[in-house]
Amino acid sequence: MTLRFDILTTFPEMFGLEAPAALGLSIPARARAAGLVEWHATNIRDFAENKHSKTDDRPFGGGPGMVMMCQPLWDAVRAVEASDPRPTTRILLTPQGAPLKQPLVEELATRPRLLLIAGHYEGLDERVIEKLDPIEVSLGDYVLSGGELAAMVLMDAIIRKLPGALGHEDSSEEDSFSARGPGGERLLDCPHYTKPREWMGMGVPEVLLSGDHGKIARWRLEQMRERTRARRPDLLEP
Ligand code: ADE
Repeated sequence: MTLRFDILTTFPEMFGLEAPAALGLSIPARARAAGLVEWHATNIRDFAENKHSKTDDRPFGGGPGMVMMCQPLWDAVRAVEASDPRPTTRILLTPQGAPLKQPLVEELATRPRLLLIAGHYEGLDERVIEKLDPIEVSLGDYVLSGGELAAMVLMDAIIRKLPGALGHEDSSEEDSFSARGPGGERLLDCPHYTKPREWMGMGVPEVLLSGDHGKIARWRLEQMRERTRARRPDLLEP
């Protein structure tokens, strides 16, 4: 089954299908060509019922910046949802959201249809957020100019989890943060090496040349645990 993304944005051009658009190359492009995923960007502006197709206005109470108005976004969401019978999961990209983690990525990769709302300006009128009741997702504690890049990051992370998206069926299981280890704990990835065997006087760990797959697997798991302890001890907390 094809996963369908709908992106609601005032900059639909950012989701163009031609390279070098971010999703027009590499794994997302191949997954799309294979029919695993499709995406459609809709311009919120097309739904604005005012003279100048305005999507934003000044905030009540004053202050800098503009606020995205309720009506254009609400009507855009309703129209896009009505265009396909599959139910959507609504997601709003915002620095106010819950920090994105791999378990949510994996869960979203099982849904048939995801509706991504990319906000701009100072944010959205709170009332339309309340009505839409989306999952609010943040990429991290920094502010982007808009939700579009965040939406693309989320799409990329989800697409690589779709069965068949990667050449090697279990290689996304080997990503950092994917469940592994006896306790199912999520760990950072281990170091990797390739040819040549010596570079600038530096060799590669002997175990990787041993051909002993059990030993290699144990070494990798130990490296992952060590790295996680050193760099991200928070991942090991229960
Ligand atoms: N929009 C602006 N900043 C963002 C962030 N950090 N995460 C998600 N969406 C955003």
